Amino acid sequence: MGASEELEYLKSLVAKLNDKIRALEAKSKATPPPAPSVQLRTILMGPPGAGKGTQAPRIKDEFCVCHLATGDMLREQVAQKTPLGVAAKKIMDAGGLVSDEIMVGMIKDQLENNKGCKNGFVLDGFPRTVPQAQKLDGMLEARKEKLNSVVQLQIDDQLLISRITGRLIHPASGRTYHREFHPPKKAMVDDVTGEPLIQRSDDNVETLTKRLGAFHSQTGPVVDYYKAKGLWHGIDAAQSPPVVWENLRKIFVESSDKPKP
Ligand code: AP5
Repeated sequence: MGASEELEYLKSLVAKLNDKIRALEAKSKATPPPAPSVQLRTILMGPPGAGKGTQAPRIKDEFCVCHLATGDMLREQVAQKTPLGVAAKKIMDAGGLVSDEIMVGMIKDQLENNKGCKNGFVLDGFPRTVPQAQKLDGMLEARKEKLNSVVQLQIDDQLLISRITGRLIHPASGRTYHREFHPPKKAMVDDVTGEPLIQRSDDNVETLTKRLGAFHSQTGPVVDYYKAKGLWHGIDAAQSPPVVWENLRKIFVESSDKPKP
């Protein structure tokens, strides 16, 4: 091929490439941006043993939101033997509540820094007092976000004793088992990792009685707080976990922010 022929060939190739680039640019402009994901911002409430920790991981997986469990956060501090952990363990083992200021700070930090909360969150164990609920409102207002729902897992206190005293935990993942209702495949061993399961130090009848007292006296008014805002839903948590899940899912699908058409 002579030099002039080669030049013509390259010019035509460049022209063809330019056409192709223009066509691709036009196509990409015509394609609408991907629809935003459904947003879910919900609170799971209920007495100790109601099933919050059993249901929340599934909500996290199916709705791609973060699961913020204040009890798990405190137990992490206890395991690391931080000053907060040492102080919190005493309060938790006595069935009391850790200060509002500390708990609000923990949630604020997560909402600001946890990238898993991009599509929303499920709060498990927070807010537990009216001041915590008011602070949460302030945080969400500053972020121009709104709660979609507050779901209370409702169950009689008498049913909770066997749930709590039979509960087994895999500390690293938070996976929950029950000696009788949901036993691991091998006794005292996590199904997924093969690591040992433990019993929580506050899972005994004496501490449970105090935790239930704190729930009724301090968290009861939080239920009224959200009822007044029209966000509250109740679910019968004495039903089996799959039935509880189906009821939760219905509430979330109906109340979560839909992607804009
Ligand atoms: P936290 O860890 O939040 O404990 P809790 O609220 O007492 O709740 P639990 O974790 O005991 O119960 P759950 O509802 O998750 O039940 P689960 O699904 O495991 O808090 C601990 C402590 O930290 C507090 O006491 C307080 O001191 C402090 N704290 C935390 N947050 C705070 C805050 N915001 N402010 C101040 N202090 C704070 O289920 C229980 C068992 O039942 C399991 O074995 C499970 O397998 C079984 N089960 C679950 N569902 C069913 C079902 N439908 N049928 C049969 N069995 C079931």
